[in-house]
Amino acid sequence: MNLIVAIDDQNAIGKEGNLLCHLSADLRHFKALTTGHTVVMGSRTYLSLPRRPLPNRRNIVLTRQDAALFEGAEVVRSVDEILNLNNPNALNTPNTPNSPTSPNSPNSPTVPTTPIIPDNEIFIIGGGQVYEQLLPYTNRLYITRIHHTFPDADTFFPAIDYSQWQLVSRETFPADDKNRYDYSFEEYRRGK
Ligand SMILES: NC(=O)c1ccc[n+]([C@@H]2O[C@H](COP(=O)([O-])OP(=O)(O)OC[C@H]3O[C@@H](n4cnc5c(N)ncnc54)[C@H](OP(=O)(O)O)[C@@H]3O)[C@@H](O)[C@H]2O)c1
Repeated sequence: MNLIVAIDDQNAIGKEGNLLCHLSADLRHFKALTTGHTVVMGSRTYLSLPRRPLPNRRNIVLTRQDAALFEGAEVVRSVDEILNLNNPNALNTPNTPNSPTSPNSPNSPTVPTTPIIPDNEIFIIGGGQVYEQLLPYTNRLYITRIHHTFPDADTFFPAIDYSQWQLVSRETFPADDKNRYDYSFEEYRRGK
């Protein structure tokens, strides 16, 4: 299972239900890594998305609330259910008759596009509660490090024990017109 997150210098990930900032390069990076796959998130993160469900991905939401609140996503009720997502005996059905990739969906673009059918590769995409519970089951970490400290952040990523992780790659970029802060893309694999 993969996990993807953007964190600041203090491990912060959010503020008042939103991201700390919008780095256009990070949004592109997130889209490139997750498109075509399954994305798993907590209900608060799902409801904070400007466009939901995330297109061309299988959207899974962890919640104890009524599934009807999460149109376009599949709802799961426990960490165990997430760990069984690829188990064919434990299939969930999308929470709408019109799947986002269905050609008959009223949300289909008028310009014909080839729908991307998501595969079984899972990305945990937040937020704080979900990262905390799923990090122990993750074997690949994609961290965007925003080289800044956001003083009013209220949601944090759990502490990472780096002795358990091997750095696979790191690329660092300076701030520019579309990216207000310096940032790095890092990839880790569990194990030494
Ligand atoms: N920087 C990043 O990369 C990044 C990524 C994603 C999100 N974020 C930020 O993180 C913040 C949101 O994080 P959050 O911790 O407040 O919320 P969250 O993890 O997105 O969602 C929490 C909700 O998930 C459900 N939940 C959690 N554990 C559960 C369990 N074991 N069983 C059933 N349901 C469970 C509950 O939903 P119900 O209350 O509906 O039952 C809970 O209220 C926002 O600020 C967001 O912008 C940052």
